[in-house]
Amino acid sequence: MKHTIVITGAGSGLGRGLSQHLAAAGHHILVTDLRLESAEETVQLIKAEGHSAEAHALDVSSETEVEKFWQAHEETPVSVLINNAGLQQVSSIDEFPIDKWDLIHNVLLRGTFLMSRAALPGMKKRGLGRIVHIGSIHSLVASPGKAAYVSAKHALLGFSKVLALETAASDITSNTICPAYIHTPLVDKQIKDQAKVRGISEAEVIEKVMLAPMPKKSFISIEEIVAATEYLISPLARNLTAQTLTLDGGWTAQ
Ligand SMILES: NC(=O)c1ccc[n+]([C@@H]2O[C@H](COP(=O)([O-])OP(=O)(O)OC[C@H]3O[C@@H](n4cnc5c(N)ncnc54)[C@H](O)[C@@H]3O)[C@@H](O)[C@H]2O)c1
Repeated sequence: MKHTIVITGAGSGLGRGLSQHLAAAGHHILVTDLRLESAEETVQLIKAEGHSAEAHALDVSSETEVEKFWQAHEETPVSVLINNAGLQQVSSIDEFPIDKWDLIHNVLLRGTFLMSRAALPGMKKRGLGRIVHIGSIHSLVASPGKAAYVSAKHALLGFSKVLALETAASDITSNTICPAYIHTPLVDKQIKDQAKVRGISEAEVIEKVMLAPMPKKSFISIEEIVAATEYLISPLARNLTAQTLTLDGGWTAQ
């Protein structure tokens, strides 16, 4: 089955990778990002390979922008939404800047709510929907310095389950993929920030902080997230809903 897929935060990292791979699999991708230029770069990469995509500027935390985007796409048969946009801030709670706290919650949680709510009428009308949220290992465990991110990513699991229950009467599902670390620009920045906060080298952050709690001691590749997504958006995953798919190399088994 070929889908029309909306991906948020698709101008970088995982969102870009998902866009490229899912376009190569024959799906049409609406590549959206806060920064139009980066969404356009993703589309150029997709088109250079002969696949199908379009770029749109979209701040997921803005109700006005989200509504405008979905109104403009009322007739577009969007059957998959991937809530991927995200950002990180590493600070201890006693020094956590309130504006960063609000921003992280607005993008990760409010943005997911706004996008999912706006996607539903079309999915219900067409009788098909697959909503995939990009959670994190930090939807399940905590790390110091990440109070806003960890709390928003935990809350995402609850939101996804309510969405699954409220859409259970139709062929719509809501699931969350929770990966451990993926080597993207977001993580590159974190490696630098963690090194500063903890007073250790960047190599030590990778070895002693990021990969230490993970028995398999490996970054998760974008291809692994793509494979999980391809399963979740397939017709045979119609009864797989309200679930958390954790790609953590054994981290949470301990
Ligand atoms: N990289 C990891 O190790 C890792 C691990 C687990 C989960 N995740 C999650 O994967 C997702 C993608 O992260 P990434 O590592 O590719 O990061 P990234 O920084 O490379 O990309 C994030 C993208 O989100 C966009 N964005 C930020 N605010 C936005 C907004 N308000 N509206 C729309 N777009 C916005 C940015 O412009 C950027 O293009 C995030 O939800 C992140 O929490 C990442």
